[in-house]
Amino acid sequence: MLTLRRKEVSPDSTVSPSHTHIVTAETLGPVTEEEFHLLEKLDLARLPRHIAIIMDGNGRWAQKRHLPRVAGHRTGTKSARMAIETSANLKIEALTLYAFSVENWRRPKTEIEFLMQLLREYIRKEMPLLQRNNIRLRFLGRSDELPEAVQRDTREATAVTATNTGMVLNIALNYGGRAEIVDALNAILTARNGHPSRDPITEEDLARHLYTADLPDPDLLIRTSGEMRVSNFLLWQIAYAEIFVTETLWPDFNRARLLEALLDFQKRERRYGAINAPASAAR
Ligand code: FPP
Repeated sequence: MLTLRRKEVSPDSTVSPSHTHIVTAETLGPVTEEEFHLLEKLDLARLPRHIAIIMDGNGRWAQKRHLPRVAGHRTGTKSARMAIETSANLKIEALTLYAFSVENWRRPKTEIEFLMQLLREYIRKEMPLLQRNNIRLRFLGRSDELPEAVQRDTREATAVTATNTGMVLNIALNYGGRAEIVDALNAILTARNGHPSRDPITEEDLARHLYTADLPDPDLLIRTSGEMRVSNFLLWQIAYAEIFVTETLWPDFNRARLLEALLDFQKRERRYGAINAPASAAR
């Protein structure tokens, strides 16, 4: 472990308001040599305001060690703790962790039950960490579909941390991007009409009114020039698309490059949130 010397932080008008609160590498405490070198290169005055993480690969981690999948989830909580603590120390405004998607109900019942239990345990165990770091905990997703006990615990944890003023930690739980859009539309209708609709909009209704309504969703999204962004392109439709990002610039993207992308696509295992791809994948 190394101790960091103070790093100069350059003033920058584009920096988020929270970053007027100056962050120095010392706030992370002792660091490894590798972290030390990375931090030396990092501009702590220009950090992202909101970090979103898809915490993927728990099952594979466990498989490699000949452990049950759930061991991967349990170990995954340690990484979540690290991400939360580090982000809070760096004064990031919001951190969103994708813990359970609306598609994850397709997993075996035992794994779902384990994840729900793990989450309840996690909330209880990490409450001191959240309070110590002044973190506001929120849950994103269809909470009313969660088991009663989980609903109760998440509600309580949200209330207990509601008056904290530091980082917002969102845990996406029973979350789906499309479900969120549909829920937002129905919330608009409710606000307009003063009561929830007797016939709420569904994902299928919305899909039927998109420009691409008569087409299947893209299953491969290619982006040339190396930018790792979705850029507001077919946001609904690419919900399950495989993303292939190549450094090749578009003018150089010839037939061979396209074939490479198609080959890469064929190597991917498409699972739609489940463990193995079901026969009837989402649309
Ligand atoms: C994806 O890995 C991970 C999940 C579906 C669950 C994520 C949960 C945790 C990290 C633990 C709980 C964390 C919090 C913040 C409460 P996977 O099972 O899809 O892994 P695989 O792709 O290798 O099969």
